[in-house]
Parts: sequence; C-alpha cells; structure tokens
Amino acid sequence: MKTLEELYAAIGHLSMEGGWHRPQPSLWPEPTGTLEPAQWRYSQVKPILEAAGHLVDHHLAERRNLTLTNPKPGHWYSTVRTLVAAYQSIKPGENALSHRHTPNALRIILEGQGTYTVVNGTRVEMRPGDVLLTPSWHWHSHEAVGPDECFWVDVLDVPLVHLLEPMFFERHPDRFEPVRENVESSALAFRWEDSLRRLDAEAAAPAHGTAEREIELGSPAMKTTAIHVQRLGAGFKSPLHQTTANAVYTVLEGAGTSRIGGREFSWAKGDVLAVPGWQPFEHRVSADAHLVRVSDEPVMRAFDFLRSR
Ligand SMILES: [Fe+2]
Repeated sequence: MKTLEELYAAIGHLSMEGGWHRPQPSLWPEPTGTLEPAQWRYSQVKPILEAAGHLVDHHLAERRNLTLTNPKPGHWYSTVRTLVAAYQSIKPGENALSHRHTPNALRIILEGQGTYTVVNGTRVEMRPGDVLLTPSWHWHSHEAVGPDECFWVDVLDVPLVHLLEPMFFERHPDRFEPVRENVESSALAFRWEDSLRRLDAEAAAPAHGTAEREIELGSPAMKTTAIHVQRLGAGFKSPLHQTTANAVYTVLEGAGTSRIGGREFSWAKGDVLAVPGWQPFEHRVSADAHLVRVSDEPVMRAFDFLRSR
C-alpha cells in the first residue's frame, strides 16, 4: 500500500473504519436531539378511537391502540428515544387477552368506569386519573364490564428493549389468566385520590422546578421508568429547563401552552406531549392542571447519564 486511497480501501474491505476518517462524528459536545417535540390532541384522537370501536373489533385487533409515532421524517415507531406511548380504548363487554412481555408498561386512565385489569392474577379496577403498572414479564389482560367505553394512555419502554434486544413476548396458554384475587388497592395501582392527597400535602417545589408541586409514583415505579404527577396552577409559568431524561407528558386536567425545543404547543385534557431529552421546555398554565410525566430517568440515573440545567 503506497497511497491513502489504497489504505482506506484495505480498511473498508475488512469492515473497519479509521476513527480519523469517519464521515460522521461518533462523539459530540452535548445532545443534539434527533427526535422532535410533538403533541397529540385527545379531541382529535377520541373520535378516531370511537370510530375504530365500530370498525375494528377485538377479533381484528387484540388491543385497540393507536401508537404515537414521533413525527421526525423517516422515524417508524417510538414517541421519544426510549419510550412509546399509545392511546387505547376498550368497549363494554370486550376483553383484551392475557399476555406478557419483557417491556415494562403502564396505563394512565383518561375516561370510563367499569374496566378492570388483571396483572399476575390480581384484578383491579382502572379508574380515571389512576396509573396502573405492568412491570416486565407480568401477565396482563383487560376487561370492560361496566357501562362505559374506557380510554387510556399506555406508555412502554419497548424502544429501549428494541435497542438492547432482550425482547420476549408470550400469549397466555389459557387465553385469560385465572383471577386469584380482586383488590381495591395494589402496589401496581396508583389511585387518583391518593395522588391528589399526596399533592395537597407536598411542599411547594423550589423556584427552578418545572411544576408547582410534584410527587413520584413509586421510587421509581419500574426499573426503567419513572412516573411523576405534577400540579401547575392557572397563571404558573415555569423557567426554561433541560434534562437528558426523555419524557412523555399526559394532561390529566387543565390547559396551557408549552414551549418545547422552540415550538409552541397548546394543550388540554387528554393530550400527550413528547419532550425528547435535552430539548429546552417551559410551561405556561391557563387553567389549573395536573400532568403525568413518564420518563427514562431511572435508566439515565443508573448509568450516570442524568444531567439537567
Ligand atoms: Fe401488553
């Protein structure tokens, strides 16, 4: 080999690349944000879910869910880098079969009475404002026995499992897992009234906080996923904040406008916001609000990757 061209040809032929010759850098000064801030409006989604309720029965779709795909061109699945969110509905009389998977999942209930979930044999009601957990490899099914169609937001760490590749999925051999117990309270069910009570008792957050008050559900709720419930009163304006944690926000109550990565999103009850890591964001609140922030903070913390400013 006498020329650089010959050297690079020899390197490339062996599936190698010279670190000094790489067309794209592999290290950079701070996160560059490959996914986009985004919003999904419940007022637009709910009629589609209701129409799907007529057109897509549970034989066609075992679970009637709409995945919230980040709008970055060419992106195919996740909502933020490590998390995927989805809206889901179940109609009276319907069942979602029992299955389990390595990804962790949680549900934030928006509307509807009389729907139950069975998680590893424990049957618990899913009520508006509740957050219910399905940790990794726990059996779970849903059934609507009440008068209402039930609507909720799912958040799962499937994209993280895609990255690391330990994906396992299994349907229950009996289609439905037997119910061992019916309970009112469970370590896997965070009740809305308990969240409100804890927020009432919580001291106001420090001035740099992104909410007036915030509580954490679990510590963390699941190994990869943290859940925080935030209270932001009408007139509240948060300072600009950045964190490496990727987050999905669900609006349980209230209204406001958030500026995320330089873009404005006006939100209302039931909306979902994607806040990719390191995108600067701030909130301005117009009606008393409660938000649920689901993030990959435990992952970032475990590897010393959690930074904020
Ligand atoms: Fe599932």
